[in-house]
Amino acid sequence: MCGIVGYLGGGNATGILLEGLQRLEYRGYDSAGLATSHRGSLQVAKRVGRVKKLAGAVSGQTSRAKLGICHTRWATHGGVTEENAHPHLSCDGKIALVHNGVIENYLPIKKFLQSAGFTFSSQTDTEILSNLIAYHYRKEPEGGETSRLFESVRKSLRQVEGTYGIAVICADCPSEIIGARNGSPLILGVGRNEILLASDVAGLVSRTAKVVYLKDGEIVHVREGDFSISTLDAEAIRPVIDEVDWDVSESALGHYTHYMLKEIFDQPEALENAMRGRFARDGSTAKFGGLNVTPQELRQIDRIMFCGCGTAWHACLSLEFLIEKYARIPVEVEYASEFRYRNAPLDKNTLFMVVSQSGETIDTLAALRESKRKGYTSLAITNVVGSTIARESDGGIYQHAGPEIGVASTKAFTSQLLLGAMLALYLGRLRDMSFNDGVEFVEGLKTAPEKAGAILRHCNQIKDIALKYARKNDFLFLGRLSMFPIALEGALKLKEISYIHAEGYPAAEMKHGPIALVSADCPTLCFATEKDTLSKVISNMQEVKARNGEVIAVRSDSCRLPEGLADDEIVIPDAHGAIMPLLAAIPMQLLSYYIAVERGCDVDKPRNLAKSVTVE
Ligand code: AGP
Repeated sequence: MCGIVGYLGGGNATGILLEGLQRLEYRGYDSAGLATSHRGSLQVAKRVGRVKKLAGAVSGQTSRAKLGICHTRWATHGGVTEENAHPHLSCDGKIALVHNGVIENYLPIKKFLQSAGFTFSSQTDTEILSNLIAYHYRKEPEGGETSRLFESVRKSLRQVEGTYGIAVICADCPSEIIGARNGSPLILGVGRNEILLASDVAGLVSRTAKVVYLKDGEIVHVREGDFSISTLDAEAIRPVIDEVDWDVSESALGHYTHYMLKEIFDQPEALENAMRGRFARDGSTAKFGGLNVTPQELRQIDRIMFCGCGTAWHACLSLEFLIEKYARIPVEVEYASEFRYRNAPLDKNTLFMVVSQSGETIDTLAALRESKRKGYTSLAITNVVGSTIARESDGGIYQHAGPEIGVASTKAFTSQLLLGAMLALYLGRLRDMSFNDGVEFVEGLKTAPEKAGAILRHCNQIKDIALKYARKNDFLFLGRLSMFPIALEGALKLKEISYIHAEGYPAAEMKHGPIALVSADCPTLCFATEKDTLSKVISNMQEVKARNGEVIAVRSDSCRLPEGLADDEIVIPDAHGAIMPLLAAIPMQLLSYYIAVERGCDVDKPRNLAKSVTVE
């Protein structure tokens, strides 16, 4: 949700800012803008559309600026226009600010500023902040102990309510940037003779691996070759400099046409990485270094509550099946956005866990914080090392799936499912699962990368099926038991990247309503991967066929269907039940991908979406 980058150093600010911004574009891509400061004046460029357009607009200009800020937007307040694009300047043109988040009390502040003679040219909440800073800046005495700019930003932030990650520069201050965060991420990068600010590591990692993760309520004053961090109450903070382990080449597209396709094909490796070093020597269970909960404590829990959003919520549903089946611990799953406001009663022996690829989703973070406030042990499964959720949880499991850039989550989802299966194994072995069942489980898990690879090798067959159905405007996805979350995820993947209406249901629920949708124009995708329920799934397919609906079956090798029942079949390998859901998810990803490409959709940057949702 909006990406920001700030730079102060010896390099060419414009080039460095644009490069960082390009890497953050997955956070939002309605419009982009840049402000640099040189010899007492600010140069601002904004464009509706992608960073590429902005880069084109400034490409002819020779800029000697060493200082600047930039932004890629995901609109919240005000339409997608150049006026509403960031950076926002104060009406006197002195202050430029980029913002990720929402200023909730912007209306009374705007009224106050208007009465003081300030004018506004956008519909955004952000513009009030640049003007508020300008208001305080005018009043701030020159030559005070701290910088005028810093003091005016600090005073302004004490007045605003809401969420923000900001970077601010001033025409009068050629070697200062102020950054601050509250509820929206902001990271400081400490390079050689240069300092950067960015919404996430991707925006600065090509310049430095040394980072400081700012905390909510902190403000950083960046000066040439130096920085200091304090709270809004002026309490000094000793910075902790972390070294990030992020390989820039991992986020390169290589020979793939889209990040989504690359990330689908990354899955065998991502699955391998999720398991690396995480099996016990005796080969009967998993082990996790960072859970920070002892086996004794885990034996005491009698319920697990999982929270997440979107695809991560689907992963939570899948974890519910896995943990209830293999560890026999009751599990509940909630949308993080509901949990945070619902005041759900939790039993004293509840373990609370969130799942989040980015580790920055605001609702998931809020759910985690609420659980912690109530004193529950609160863990996280997340992909991004050093993300806010990773840092604020009591412990957890890193996915090590590598950067996921495509807005549609793919490898992060299957890696969450694999880790969920490993967690189910670990918890199961602490309870009733036998040694032999544990060993068989481990052996089953280990086959996941190779079986995922086998599905990917058949991508052309899935592509042909995709092309056949690409012009349909409605789809049903039906799955029983562990395939129900995969049906939901299949429907979500299809709608988010191809804008086709799709719904996922437990297969038997079809008769209670969705069957009304079945027609020659609405194909139904059915999962037939479990022997126990195969006859029931076959009945559901027959019900669809009886109403002239087309059936695409995703079946496991040994779950054979009556001749001619399915119009198309995608066959996936037989496998241990614990990895069947993640294997079945892969053809869904490919199907959606090829349909979206065929329909001419922007697969990596679907309309209206952003990769991490850091506003409510
Ligand atoms: C996935 O394809 C979606 N783009 C979206 O639902 C996503 O999973 C959700 O916003 C949660 O993100 P997180 O895993 O980073 O918390």
